[in-house]
Amino acid sequence: MKENKGETMGAYYDDNTLAEINHRVDILDVVADTVKLTRKGDRYWGLCPFHAEKTPSFSVTPGKNMFYCFGCHAGGNLFTYIMKRDGMDFPEAVQMLASRAGIQLHHTQVNKAVDRFRRVVEVNKAAASWFQGILEEDPAATKARQYLAKRHLKEDTIKRFQLGYSPNEWNRISNYLLGKGFDLEWVKESGLIKRSKNGDAYYDLFRDRVIFPIFDYQGSIVGFGGRTVEEALPKYLNTPETEVYVKRNHLFGLYQARETIRKSNQAILVEGYMDCLKLHQHDIQNAVASLGTALTREQALLLRRYSENILVLYDGDEAGQRETLRAVEILAEQGLNVEVLTLPGGLDPDDYLDQYGKEEFLQYIQNNRVSYIEFKVKRSIAAENSLNLQAKIRVINAVKPDIGRLESTILRDNYVKMLSRLLKIEENLILKEIESNIGQRMQHPKNKSPVNRDNIQYGNYSMEEKILANMLQNSDIADTIASQIGVQCFTSRHYNRLAAICYEMGGDLQANPVAWQQAVQKEGLEALLARLESRWHEGIRINDAELWYFIRSVQRGRQKAKWRKLHQRLDQLRNDGGFHSVLRLILDLDTFLHQTREGGIQ
Ligand code: CTP
Ligand code: MN
Repeated sequence: MKENKGETMGAYYDDNTLAEINHRVDILDVVADTVKLTRKGDRYWGLCPFHAEKTPSFSVTPGKNMFYCFGCHAGGNLFTYIMKRDGMDFPEAVQMLASRAGIQLHHTQVNKAVDRFRRVVEVNKAAASWFQGILEEDPAATKARQYLAKRHLKEDTIKRFQLGYSPNEWNRISNYLLGKGFDLEWVKESGLIKRSKNGDAYYDLFRDRVIFPIFDYQGSIVGFGGRTVEEALPKYLNTPETEVYVKRNHLFGLYQARETIRKSNQAILVEGYMDCLKLHQHDIQNAVASLGTALTREQALLLRRYSENILVLYDGDEAGQRETLRAVEILAEQGLNVEVLTLPGGLDPDDYLDQYGKEEFLQYIQNNRVSYIEFKVKRSIAAENSLNLQAKIRVINAVKPDIGRLESTILRDNYVKMLSRLLKIEENLILKEIESNIGQRMQHPKNKSPVNRDNIQYGNYSMEEKILANMLQNSDIADTIASQIGVQCFTSRHYNRLAAICYEMGGDLQANPVAWQQAVQKEGLEALLARLESRWHEGIRINDAELWYFIRSVQRGRQKAKWRKLHQRLDQLRNDGGFHSVLRLILDLDTFLHQTREGGIQ
């Protein structure tokens, strides 16, 4: 729904096609392409293709066309398996599986937007090779060639990334493209030309600039960046946002980097085009750059397809470090393992490589990379003028949620010790503070990915897992929960979303598995669903007593939260309470006590 992936899914393929593919293709065959499987009961086991392991924790349930790994918690359906294994997007996976199933996808299933996209990409491709030709041999590009040499960019790199140059004239690219017979509509749509203020004339957007084509992850050129060679302003011009070029969905360099990222399970995120090129040039080929805007959630999701580990390597100056903070939040929210490297002396990666070379650069990374939590702690401390008690609380608050959701108690302990050392506060006080945050999740659920969350041990976690697994399979249980406490009764937002889907689908998973899988995929919850399916297979069942225990404990939790709120209000009133606000509180309290007595708190 909200995600692009979901829209394309609905737009391209109907449910019948997907059901047919599911019916004809057996996930066992697909997995067996690359994984050796052994049968145990009604499931098959093998070494997980998505993480390194020595004993099999990767399971396939053929009847359902689902997979789940108990080691790394990757999981999903037939389509997501292909997406993850081969780094494809949904339409590509559908196409691949359709041809495997011998199903012809009808042309009408490819909608107008795709056609539009293709046409603009054709224009871009022609433009890019024209720009490239100019850079290579046109006398007008001598200055640009000298500039790139001064920046230590080598021929190979320039070729690999198809850099080009747009001459300092008004109509070169437009004349070229229209002369080649491209329709004005698509040339306009490419953003390469702009309409002049006073009428029908068009002029070139990029003049006297080095051109950086921006590829989507499959290698289609979707837009361009253009850097001035004369230090004119702005330093970079970029293709404006169009239907085809949606910046938030792309990463510079991903096309060139994606294989390496997948193989090494590690990506390096930098800020600038130049930084990215320079890393590749030094054979550090897993670098990508965001596109001159703050990192987006879509970009994080894009990266997550290829790697779980991201090293953020932004410019060492203040602006870069500020952006780092924003980027790591977004990456961590998608369940990625995030590390940060801060370069010394405000340098950017490009400068650093020029000055110190590759070996020293790699050494520096090795010695100075820190987890994003450590980065946040250090940054928060640096932001305080003096480390008084209020400041220390602010520092703890900044990382409380991050530490609270770590699976590993060892890691958690590590950060508690670190905070204790840096803030000179006793460990057990910090621990208490962090644990109090775990309780508050119910009030402030954050958008955390299931990748990272579905193994967290806290509160009544395993009970929640059991409840949700049962809800999905048994509509009576779902109904009871819905009528007693509502389906949004879990401490994890992902559980709540899955429960909401269950409720919307009006019934259990068995009734319409394909529709279910699609709805779940739209929300990125396929791994969670696969996990709960696996649990169900293992025989996880709740009895009535447990069901009611859960319902009661949720109700109790909600009451407690209300009491807590009342206490807070009381505290506040003690300081600055006027007559009317006290009266308001008394009235609320009265209603509240009534409800509590009747046992009807929701
Ligand atoms: N950027 C932009 N428009 C600008 C300035 C920057 O789109 N006016 C984007 C570009 O994607 C650029 C990135 O922000 O690559 C980072 O900016 P900066 O660090 O200034 O650029 P570098 O790529 O490092 O370029 P250079 O080293 O040539 O100055
Ligand atoms: Mn730079």
